[in-house]
Amino acid sequence: MRFGLVLCLSAVSLAAPTHFLDHAYDWSDELAEFYGKISQYINTAKHNIRAPSACDVSKIALPSYASGLTSPDGLKPVYVALGRGTQNYTCADSSSKTAPVAAGAVARLYNATCIAANYPGMLETLPNLAYKVTLPTNEYASFPPSNIDLMGHHFFYDATTPEFNLNTTPDKQHGIVMTKKGGSIDAPSNALSGEHGAVAWLYLTTTDGTVGNYKSVYRVDTAAGSPPKTCKGMPSAFQMQYAANYYFFGE
Ligand SMILES: *[C@@H]1O[C@H](CO)[C@@H](O)[C@H](O)[C@H]1NC(C)=O
Ligand SMILES: *[C@@H]1O[C@H](CO)[C@@H](O)[C@H](O)[C@H]1NC(C)=O
Repeated sequence: MRFGLVLCLSAVSLAAPTHFLDHAYDWSDELAEFYGKISQYINTAKHNIRAPSACDVSKIALPSYASGLTSPDGLKPVYVALGRGTQNYTCADSSSKTAPVAAGAVARLYNATCIAANYPGMLETLPNLAYKVTLPTNEYASFPPSNIDLMGHHFFYDATTPEFNLNTTPDKQHGIVMTKKGGSIDAPSNALSGEHGAVAWLYLTTTDGTVGNYKSVYRVDTAAGSPPKTCKGMPSAFQMQYAANYYFFGE
């Protein structure tokens, strides 16, 4: 019975990503609902299958395109989060001679660790769906339509310090990850661009103030988030919607 369920889910997850990639720019409610159902299956499987390998983080691997960034060799995957929020920018004036400047980001992080361990193909396409989904007003609610649990919050501690706070409820205290940029590569050409392109893939290393066993964070599978090329007609501060997957590694 258990074995049968696993086989069935594998078949679905193998079939799904290709289908969704073909329609990356054309999400319908029907597709979103289908995606939601698959996520429900994943959750059911997670709860029903007690085998230790059901959510084995050692199986987690970065997407192959991330090989353009410093490798996490020697470190172990800890968690994977689906991030959904905004990249913030400022414009010194509203002329076409000025370029927008990055000014932090704010995103909610949803726990995609088990999806990463069991359905990597599906995980890669998840930000493309998430980009089209409006976040629930309750910031502690799970991610619709697939009920992925809130795992933390991403924001900037100061201008150069992306922070990931993984303490959400009194019984979910998973630490604080303070980082600095260690490298970046342009998003692949097939990334979902949104209005002005997908933000870069990033390699971040942890810094002082980190609480917990975290050494590096990768932002990958980015969807949208880039600003227009120039500040023409833009206000002094603005946000671009984005989604991405964040991989956390520790010792
Ligand atoms: C970024 O924009 C959000 C709104 O999406 C805002 O709440 C936040 O304060 C801004 N953060 C920075 C660093 O500008
Ligand atoms: C993410 O989900 C896994 C599997 O349910 C769980 O073991 C882990 O504690 C969760 N991580 C966070 C940071 O909530």
